[in-house]
Amino acid sequence: MANKSQVFITRAIHPEALEKLAAETEVEVWPEAYPPSKDVLLQKIGSVNGLLTMLTDPIDEEVIARGTPALKVIAQLAVGYDNIDVAAATRRGIPVGHTPGVLTETTADFAWALMMAAARRVGEAEREVRSGLWQPWGPDVLTGLDVYGKTLGIIGLGRIGKAVARRARGFSMRILYNNATRDLEAEEELGVEFVTFDRLLAQSDFISLHLYYSPEARHLINRSAFEQMKPNAVLVNTARGAVVDPEALTWALQTRRIAAAGIDVFDPEPIPPNHPLLELENVVIAPHIASAGIETRQKMAMMSVENILAGLKGAPIPYCANPQVYEPRGT
Ligand code: DGY
Repeated sequence: MANKSQVFITRAIHPEALEKLAAETEVEVWPEAYPPSKDVLLQKIGSVNGLLTMLTDPIDEEVIARGTPALKVIAQLAVGYDNIDVAAATRRGIPVGHTPGVLTETTADFAWALMMAAARRVGEAEREVRSGLWQPWGPDVLTGLDVYGKTLGIIGLGRIGKAVARRARGFSMRILYNNATRDLEAEEELGVEFVTFDRLLAQSDFISLHLYYSPEARHLINRSAFEQMKPNAVLVNTARGAVVDPEALTWALQTRRIAAAGIDVFDPEPIPPNHPLLELENVVIAPHIASAGIETRQKMAMMSVENILAGLKGAPIPYCANPQVYEPRGT
């Protein structure tokens, strides 16, 4: 009987997905709650044919080179894959999978949860109540920002940005967007208006980030961006931490240059426990859980397993981040 392919998974995944994978392959699951270090990855990768990764794993050129030629497929359990050197994988003919689409609505829901919580001071109110400080009802007790009818600026009008816009229509918002390219279909369908980056910053009451992370997007939201925002602006980040300069964010919230922020991602993650942001009342912080719906995470695990199984068979993987690997190579 032919030997089974070897697969390393860098964190426990949904049992049904694991079962499906284990039926056809020899699987090792990293058992810890913290991700494996790069040294562990370098040690494991030498002997595997499939690697199922999380966004916390540094899959750089060195790791990929160490896996070659046995490594046939990398499948990331996330839509974003900025932790993977996809170009290095492509050069070696290794397909990289991810999980697009399935987490769109869940992530959009969570962007809204952060927007509402930051605007209406939910975290601060809850902290007060839990510490025994339920103030009697009063006209100005814990008053926050109204959301209905305001202007929402979406930076990055991809799948998730559009899902956020769809929800904003229910709040009768004016919706501005800035994107690498204009999307006339979305303008027609969702009533969104394309504006320059600077105009979006200057006119939005709520700004929600939904762009894919690339080195060009690093610290897109910096001190000068905050200086252009309205003083009552609320920033929401469910994209990647490094899109926002953490020092500028801290300054903008400490000085009330903007009113509040809701962030699911930070640079670095986890946020250092003594970070000054954690002292502030006007920020709602979640530990990168925007896609953490139970059913969504199960589907993401299944998609990752489908990617691994197809890749191991040499078939095109269904959710591929680098389809160029399947193009004929030049002579
Ligand atoms: C992603 O998929 O890229 C999110 O950040 C986590 O689900």
